[in-house]
Amino acid sequence: MQLIDGKALANKVQTEVAEEVERLKQEKNVVPGLAVILVGDDPASHAYVKMKAKACEKVGFYSITHNMPDTISQSEIIQIIEMMNANPHIDGILVQLPLPKHIDTDKILEVIDPKKDVDGFHAYNVGRLVTNLDSFVPCTPLGVMKMFEAYDIDLEGKDVCVVGASNIVGKPMAALLLNANATVTVTHIYTKDLKAHTAKADIVVVGVGVPGLIKEDMVKEGAVVIDIGINRIEDGSLVGDVDFPKVSKKCSYITPVPGGVGPMTIAMLLSNTLKAAKARA
Ligand code: GUN
Repeated sequence: MQLIDGKALANKVQTEVAEEVERLKQEKNVVPGLAVILVGDDPASHAYVKMKAKACEKVGFYSITHNMPDTISQSEIIQIIEMMNANPHIDGILVQLPLPKHIDTDKILEVIDPKKDVDGFHAYNVGRLVTNLDSFVPCTPLGVMKMFEAYDIDLEGKDVCVVGASNIVGKPMAALLLNANATVTVTHIYTKDLKAHTAKADIVVVGVGVPGLIKEDMVKEGAVVIDIGINRIEDGSLVGDVDFPKVSKKCSYITPVPGGVGPMTIAMLLSNTLKAAKARA
């Protein structure tokens, strides 16, 4: 079994982004800028946004966080986004999800200028991804693709089971895998027999937020297992959606939690923001 070291790969990507930022500054006098909109006081969201801001600083981006109370109205959020759309120093706009219940997330995401949509959640970018055109791709599945590439894991013709069908992870993951010529099965909460699908897959990609959902009898010998889940359990530790101690014994490759997909998500946000800034330059 080989561990896929997301932390090391993310560090490598960050170093490459930092070098390109320096070049962009010198040659075009452009500093990539990211605006983050954070609503409410969900501790996990605050922690993620803090990590994103720190990573921006590290690679030399300009970044601002709009930290708003959860009493904010939908039209006020839209106003902030429109301001960021018009701001020439801002290349990327990220609205941290989930938003409070009284806000229509779909409406909010549609207001973001697709050229600044570094999360790849706007329907324009989703449509371009599905049709295999150049687009902004959601950071987590993009990070997983980067891992496959870095570890020479071939996707063509492989049976891949994606567990979870969210707009943020499962659906774009499936589109990317399909674009890479894999045979993709997407399972979700209504799937009748999850194990029947995971157990025959060459590659299992899981991101549902259920600790230890994927057990050893659900995975084929020699499979590649990518764990996107990050769950804090009762003893305070972080675990993924895979029963790592047991499943790892059967795998050819597996991602750990923490230190797997998580750091890659942030690295891909930097990469997407750099891409937006280059388009501006
Ligand atoms: N919430 C959970 N994951 C993400 C993400 O990748 N981007 C945003 N904006 N919110 C999230």
